[in-house]
Amino acid sequence: MSVAVKRLIQHAAGCFGYQVVPVAAYAKASRALGLADASPSLLFQVDPVFQASYARGIAITGTPESGQVVCSKRESRFYNLLSIHRWVAGIPGWQVECGCWKGLSSFLLNEQAKRLKPSHDGAGFMIVDSFEGLSQPTAEDRVPRGPDPALHGEQYGAPAGTFCCPQDAVRQSLSDFPAIEYHQGWIPKVLSTLPERTYAFVHLDLDLHDPIRGAVEYFFPRLERGGVIVLDDYGSLAWPGAMKGVDDAAAALGQSLIPLSSGQALLVRR
Ligand SMILES: C[S@@+](CC[C@H](N)C(=O)[O-])C[C@H]1O[C@@H](n2cnc3c(N)ncnc32)[C@H](O)[C@@H]1O
Repeated sequence: MSVAVKRLIQHAAGCFGYQVVPVAAYAKASRALGLADASPSLLFQVDPVFQASYARGIAITGTPESGQVVCSKRESRFYNLLSIHRWVAGIPGWQVECGCWKGLSSFLLNEQAKRLKPSHDGAGFMIVDSFEGLSQPTAEDRVPRGPDPALHGEQYGAPAGTFCCPQDAVRQSLSDFPAIEYHQGWIPKVLSTLPERTYAFVHLDLDLHDPIRGAVEYFFPRLERGGVIVLDDYGSLAWPGAMKGVDDAAAALGQSLIPLSSGQALLVRR
């Protein structure tokens, strides 16, 4: 195949938000990073654009790939996140992530925005976080320590302060997107200080009942028609307050949601 034809294919793929990566190079890189599954059976496991971006995001943000604080099905959740993010492309309004930790999901979203529009520099995307980790869990966030809570007691998924990463470190990791807007503070309180605007895409990855409920109640009425809130922790057994927070807010708003097998759920403004 001539260089000109290769360039043409690269260009055409770029126009549709895809990047052409040589199969051998991708396989080698993903094996080296321990990303290759022995027997991949689902598209996200072999999607070269997704896998390459995920590997870059892990490396750039320094997000750990395993360990107690890393939840299951993370790759499939991020794949869903990006699919939904592509679906809202073209809907006017801001995009926001509440709960960024080291910036991995924000990186993936902004890198995809750049694939869709090469001039993307982060403009129109905002991050809201304490940059001091989780807030204090409440009674709704308690999980049983064993089969009988009366006997085994209850505990929190993680203590306040878990997932702490200073704003400067996140800015550094996301320096390819200098126009991202950062808002530091405790959710829900900080939400009342945000500029009044409408949203096309909202990613809530906050783990706990109170901030999730407050964020759904704040952002849903500000969604554009066709806009989506992606709730990362909805079906997570480690974070029972997330489901309750979303259900409480959805009931107050008279909305129903779409739960996914990954643990995520979607709220769509119709
Ligand atoms: C699970 S981490 C987010 C993971 C991230 N989306 C990623 O891609 O790795 C949870 C984040 O929520 C933030 N957070 C939790 N409770 C908060 C609250 N009440 N106000 C502001 N930020 C909060 C934490 O600081 C942390 O950054």
